[in-house]
Amino acid sequence: MAKLLCFVSFLLCSQLFITSSLSAASSPAVCPQEQGNALLKFKSAFSIDSWASISCADEGVTNYAKTNSWKEGTDCCKWDGIKCENQTGNVIGLDLSCSWLKGPIHSNSSLFLLKHLQNLNFAHNDLQQSKVLPEYGSLSSLTHLNLSSSNFNGTIPLELSRLSRLVSLDLSSGNSLTLESSVWNKINLTQFRELVLDRLRMPSISTATFANLSTSLTILSLSRCELKGEFPHTIIGLPNLQKFVLSENHELKANFSKSSWSNSLQHVDISFTEISGHLPHSIGNLKSLQHLNIGSSKFSGSIPDSLGNLTGLSYLSLFENDFNGHIPHTLSNLDQLTILALAKNRLSGPIPNMFGRLSKLIGLSLSSNSLIGQIPTSICSMSKLQVLELGNNSLSGGIPQCLVNLTQLSTLDLSYNNLVGPIPTGNQFSSFGNESYVGNPGLCGPPLSKNCSRA
Ligand SMILES: *[C@@H]1O[C@H](CO)[C@@H](O)[C@H](O)[C@H]1NC(C)=O
Ligand SMILES: *[C@@H]1O[C@H](CO)[C@@H](O)[C@H](O)[C@H]1NC(C)=O
Ligand SMILES: *[C@@H]1O[C@H](CO)[C@@H](O)[C@H](O)[C@H]1NC(C)=O
Ligand SMILES: *[C@@H]1O[C@H](CO)[C@@H](O)[C@H](O)[C@H]1NC(C)=O
Ligand SMILES: *[C@@H]1O[C@H](CO)[C@@H](O)[C@H](O)[C@H]1NC(C)=O
Ligand SMILES: *[C@@H]1O[C@H](CO)[C@@H](O)[C@H](O)[C@H]1NC(C)=O
Ligand SMILES: *[C@@H]1O[C@H](CO)[C@@H](O)[C@H](O)[C@H]1NC(C)=O
Ligand SMILES: *[C@@H]1O[C@H](CO)[C@@H](O)[C@H](O)[C@H]1NC(C)=O
Ligand SMILES: *[C@@H]1O[C@H](CO)[C@@H](O)[C@H](O)[C@H]1NC(C)=O
Ligand SMILES: *[C@@H]1O[C@H](CO)[C@@H](O)[C@H](O)[C@H]1NC(C)=O
Ligand SMILES: *[C@@H]1O[C@H](CO)[C@@H](O)[C@H](O)[C@H]1NC(C)=O
Ligand SMILES: *[C@@H]1O[C@H](CO)[C@@H](O)[C@H](O)[C@H]1NC(C)=O
Repeated sequence: MAKLLCFVSFLLCSQLFITSSLSAASSPAVCPQEQGNALLKFKSAFSIDSWASISCADEGVTNYAKTNSWKEGTDCCKWDGIKCENQTGNVIGLDLSCSWLKGPIHSNSSLFLLKHLQNLNFAHNDLQQSKVLPEYGSLSSLTHLNLSSSNFNGTIPLELSRLSRLVSLDLSSGNSLTLESSVWNKINLTQFRELVLDRLRMPSISTATFANLSTSLTILSLSRCELKGEFPHTIIGLPNLQKFVLSENHELKANFSKSSWSNSLQHVDISFTEISGHLPHSIGNLKSLQHLNIGSSKFSGSIPDSLGNLTGLSYLSLFENDFNGHIPHTLSNLDQLTILALAKNRLSGPIPNMFGRLSKLIGLSLSSNSLIGQIPTSICSMSKLQVLELGNNSLSGGIPQCLVNLTQLSTLDLSYNNLVGPIPTGNQFSSFGNESYVGNPGLCGPPLSKNCSRA
């Protein structure tokens, strides 16, 4: 084949020659024997059990026993999950995420002989309540450490703060790991790019310390960490921040009203917190935003019209806050939306007839506000809609007959409004019980016991 190409084109031929001679010159070194042996010894300490990585299977992530390819007498640099440095062959990467490993890691583990490791990932295995041992702090070349969802238990040791080259740390767990402030305060936060500590218990940490995170930060995820107090309002403006999660820290306060939110933000989840203030008008500049969840927090003020500029938004929940004013009709631009949740606020005025382009919406929840007027017929054009909740408002008029066209609908709540007239029949409507309609004295027909008069 190469010969044929040479014949066809001299240019291509010379290129082939150059690339092949280059790769020969830099053919990577093989694995140093003692590091290969350390890996084999490490492997032998585990049993293989696909259930240990069941969370990967559940999420559709590729998972298999990577260590099955680890065989004595072969170059360890070619084994699954191993990365070697080209010149020396030193093992610098060990990615055993989703690898069916079951068993604890003890301080005598040969893992800690691999001093050149830069990248270590045990995510999604069952390390059976292993401690995060002080020995991890001796792997001083580490830049990436990922121990997420691998059944570690106990407290994070002081020695972890010695890893001065770390740029990415993932200790997200099942609420089984604790980080004390005495350790946290020794960790230099300035060089972090990714900090993922979801469900790591850190109730004693002073939230002011997060102010030391710097412009290198791209991901900060602190869901359910038991954080309390005032979170620094500047963090949401770090210029490279893409993902910002503070959800389910029920006693965490902050006010991002005057902060300029980072233009890099794609995913913001600050739901189930005490975070207050209003959504700034400038939120309309966050062109990359796809997911905004501030549900069940303490926001107030009106919903900015500028939200309608965020045309990449697929998830928008302002559920259970204290927003007032009208639902902006500019939301009609958000044609990527799948979820729109505005329930449990103090929104007033009519529901805008804005749904014509929202063809991807599967959930619409506007319950428990003070909305008036009729149910707009453009709702009927959202053919993927599965959940429609408009209960506990002051809506009037009839239920649009075209709602029967929403054949994916499985949850309908129109209760406690002032709706009148017959309930539509056919398609999905045969499956809704009368709890979908209670509290509307003017409605009639099955499943309600009140018959419609033949007037
Ligand atoms: C090491 O080799 C890989 C593949 O051959 C190559 O992609 C990479 O750029 C090399 N790295 C260095 C630092 O030479
Ligand atoms: C390593 O330590 C564990 C727990 O202390 C012990 O059960 C195991 O036998 C030790 N393994 C080796 C090879 O020394
Ligand atoms: C996890 O560690 C805590 C102490 O940090 C201990 O009380 C608990 O029993 C451990 N859990 C298991 C299942 O070993
Ligand atoms: C840790 O590894 C898991 C599994 O590979 C991955 O999903 C997660 O994003 C990693 N964490 C970080 C911070 O990269
Ligand atoms: C923290 O790390 C940064 C960047 O690596 C460095 O410039 C700074 O001196 C360190 N701070 C301390 C207190 O070690
Ligand atoms: C930021 O880091 C420096 C150096 O480690 C430390 O002295 C300072 O107290 C930290 N600031 C906060 C707010 O924690
Ligand atoms: C939030 O900050 C804004 C601007 O500084 C201020 O007007 C508002 O009262 C604050 N809201 C709360 C609930 O603290
Ligand atoms: C953003 O939205 C506001 C209000 O809807 C509008 O006036 C403005 O022109 C929009 N800006 C951009 C850049 O689209
Ligand atoms: C109905 O909405 C009002 C506010 O509009 C709220 O106070 C009340 O709890 C809601 N009732 C139910 C049953 O959700
Ligand atoms: C509902 O579907 C029927 C039949 O598919 C169609 O004729 C009608 O125009 C639709 N109604 C609305 C409001 O889309
Ligand atoms: C709702 O249905 C139940 C059982 O089918 C019936 O007992 C009840 O009277 C109905 N309530 C109304 C308001 O129609
Ligand atoms: C409602 O209509 C049904 C059938 O048309 C009839 O059997 C029933 O007696 C009526 N009920 C009332 C309360 O008028």
